[in-house]
Amino acid sequence: MTETALTVHQTVRPHGFPTADHFTFAESPLPEPAAGSALVENLYWSVDPYHREMMDAVSGGFALGAPLEGRTVGRVVASRTPRLPEGEIVFHRKGWRTHATVTPEEIRRLPRFDGVPLTAYLSTLGGTGLTAYVGLTRIARLQEGEDLFVSAAAGGVGTTTGRFAKLLGAGRLVGSAGSAAKAAHLMREVGYDAVFDYHDGPAADLLGKAAPDGVDVFVDNVGGEQLAAAVGALREFGRVVRVGTISQYNTPGTSSPRFDHADIVEKSLRMEGFLVRNYLDLQEELYEFAVPRLQSGRLALDETVVDGFEHIVDAFLGMLRGENTGKIIVRDRTQVPSVS
Ligand SMILES: NC(=O)c1ccc[n+]([C@@H]2O[C@H](COP(=O)([O-])OP(=O)(O)OC[C@H]3O[C@@H](n4cnc5c(N)ncnc54)[C@H](OP(=O)(O)O)[C@@H]3O)[C@@H](O)[C@H]2O)c1
Repeated sequence: MTETALTVHQTVRPHGFPTADHFTFAESPLPEPAAGSALVENLYWSVDPYHREMMDAVSGGFALGAPLEGRTVGRVVASRTPRLPEGEIVFHRKGWRTHATVTPEEIRRLPRFDGVPLTAYLSTLGGTGLTAYVGLTRIARLQEGEDLFVSAAAGGVGTTTGRFAKLLGAGRLVGSAGSAAKAAHLMREVGYDAVFDYHDGPAADLLGKAAPDGVDVFVDNVGGEQLAAAVGALREFGRVVRVGTISQYNTPGTSSPRFDHADIVEKSLRMEGFLVRNYLDLQEELYEFAVPRLQSGRLALDETVVDGFEHIVDAFLGMLRGENTGKIIVRDRTQVPSVS
């Protein structure tokens, strides 16, 4: 075990797109667990779009010069409580640091499923997968054969939504993504039927070509122009599942998209947002849905794994720029499989 810990702090608030200069790595001696707590060496870290929102001066946002919050999976390496034995693999929210002291109340023990890697607890079996699952089953209440449009389809929530939707019996799957390469990947690997690059023109035109007969459900990770286009493309009794608004996180103050409010009435549409943290009671149901399918190969993980904690800030910024396909995860070098 190393003798020092590294912790990422935010140093200043960004205006627009953040850079590495908004963060610093603070080195310190390893934290000592107090009685009743344990020291965890973190092994996998999640960096997420909501961290960009927390960088701003918002209620509940990141404090400057202090450790950040983030989902992480680690191993107990020293313990002062029998409830957290050494060697146990745990999930907790003290990410963005190599080591954390935690109490039993601050962790979730992770069940181990044969053939399922630990990264899955931050992707398909974690908050990303739960978001996709809640969006489809509880908010859209997806029916067999219904056609979907998914924005940011190549990201963590977008790929998982596509794969889950197919398993739930969805009809045609249309997506949008930031490059032609991502569009091709989604159609070849993930099961999307048509995908457009949203840079190629007005969203309404691109969606009109990709889904000429409209869609029943829009899973919206992006907001903005694509949301307005989707309201126009939805059929009668269509649903908009508002998951996120990533097109606006780096441009606060831009005006919200305009769409025809009469569409909501005339087509009997429903638009509903949600936060996955209010659906944590569905975690076991997600395992029941996803784990057997992962084990049988009917469901695959979509992950971009970045090696080395020292690259966590780059991984976060790269995700905001769209450099990831699937869920972005940072992996400690000790977890890199050896090539033999
Ligand atoms: N409601 C909840 O509880 C909940 C939970 C998890 C996530 N979310 C939200 O779900 C969305 C996706 O999250 P994720 O973790 O799966 O991230 P992600 O999609 O894996 O990564 C973000 C993606 O957003 C795309 N993007 C960046 N700027 C964009 C822009 N201006 N317009 C369109 N796309 C843009 C990029 O892909 P491209 O190359 O395609 O541009 C990038 O890969 C986010 O809005 C997030 O806040 C909500």
